[in-house]
Amino acid sequence: MEKIIIHGQKRLCGEIEVHGSKNSALPILAAASLVDGVSEIHNCPQLSDVDAAIHILQHLGCKVARDGHTVTVDSTGMNGYEIPDRLMREMRSSVVFLGAILGRAKHARLCAPGGCEIGLRPIDLHISAMEQLGAELKEEGGRLEFTVPKELSGARITLSFPSVGATENILLAAATATGRTVLQNAAREPEISDLADFLNGCGARIHGAGDSTIIIDGVKRLSGTGHTVIPDRIAASTYLLAGAVTQGRICVKDIIPAHLGALLPVMKEAGCDITASGRWICMSAPPRLHRVKMTRTMPYPGFPTDVQAPLSAMLTVADGTSVIIENIFESRYKHAAELLRFGAKISVEGRMEVIEGVPRLLGTQVVAPDLRGGFALILAGLAAHGETVVRGVEHIDRGYEKPEQILRSLGADIQRIQDDEEEGFGKHKENEGGTEPNAPADIGSAKNDIKADAAAPDESAGGQPPGDVE
Ligand code: UD1
Repeated sequence: MEKIIIHGQKRLCGEIEVHGSKNSALPILAAASLVDGVSEIHNCPQLSDVDAAIHILQHLGCKVARDGHTVTVDSTGMNGYEIPDRLMREMRSSVVFLGAILGRAKHARLCAPGGCEIGLRPIDLHISAMEQLGAELKEEGGRLEFTVPKELSGARITLSFPSVGATENILLAAATATGRTVLQNAAREPEISDLADFLNGCGARIHGAGDSTIIIDGVKRLSGTGHTVIPDRIAASTYLLAGAVTQGRICVKDIIPAHLGALLPVMKEAGCDITASGRWICMSAPPRLHRVKMTRTMPYPGFPTDVQAPLSAMLTVADGTSVIIENIFESRYKHAAELLRFGAKISVEGRMEVIEGVPRLLGTQVVAPDLRGGFALILAGLAAHGETVVRGVEHIDRGYEKPEQILRSLGADIQRIQDDEEEGFGKHKENEGGTEPNAPADIGSAKNDIKADAAAPDESAGGQPPGDVE
């Protein structure tokens, strides 16, 4: 295992590019198993979640080759229909393969999320949609077995919530179904449009992706194509926040500014000067950030839940009290307990996080609780005085490609090294003195109390820590 060591208080300045979108690449790789022949996916980020998707493709019988940021998938030999538990565990979002496998093999077997270590991650919307398209489900001992007795056929489907993954599975399963599917209350995330663009490039007839109503006219056959994945709007947002938390001045190039439409007003409210044009955004932060009164996470085009943890980290040093309401996932504040160790003042009550900005954070030892929460700790480390050690780096590697290299290019003092002392840190045991270096003395006091259900629902829920919500 590795750890990241940061010596904070370096102002980040300069220009960066971000990698391709993880959340686009994953469903597009799944789609490559649905289409006949060879697909070339360009701008495919080098992330452990992408590796996990590649393992699933290989398990299904596809040939996969990677050359830098291009992944080539040849699905000619695809003959599998099962995702084994171990591969489901490797990546939380493997369920996005369901629609593709069903479309191709008319049979799919995977473990129920409850049976895996992926916590409370309901897939009822995915299941109901597959059933509406003609699949039948048998559930046995945590395993889900889908069969298609006749054929997949178009249907009118209305999602009760615009789930990103369910929308993707519907696009995948309906693309080669018989007849027309009309999907209402679809997710509108840019990654949905990117998946539809890929599928349309393969011969699909999908209209309206990016809107709430998507019409899919099933076609008999799809054939592989080349496609370039859109830039990662979540990584771009995270680096802009990293610039802001260090009073920096950074430009993120080769992105689609409209995809960050909900973040920019929030950063402006925090006092950042933002200019955006064409394919770039430049941000210059004030000497002291202002509080942001209220931020609510919402489905796109609202404020993304995936940027909530990095934003929380930025607001720990803002002047005044900020409030965040998490509307997408029930408990996505695990980073809050770790941020307290820097001396941040945060309280969490259900879906609400209240952040009382402090003038300075102090470096400490922390463990990444999940992907975005992990990067939030890096942000706090960049802002903090002294040394910060972040463990649990494998979470961060799921979604950010070489983050320490990017941050170093902006002037951060950050390095990744092998972790020899990992034992004993996984659960954050207090060391002999009862506190860790620089840990705030009042962790767990009434003032900084993080409610057990909000910050650490895992252990109380039955032994297995849930994974990321992503
Ligand atoms: C995707 C993203 C993730 C992001 C999330 C919300 C990928 C790989 N992951 O995850 O980064 O945080 O969108 O923008 O693209 N839900 C149900 N039943 C279902 C499906 C979802 O109740 O069948 C609930 C979830 O528990 C959650 C909410 O709907 O509370 C949103 O989930 P969803 O949009 O499906 O997120 P993912 O596709 O899993």
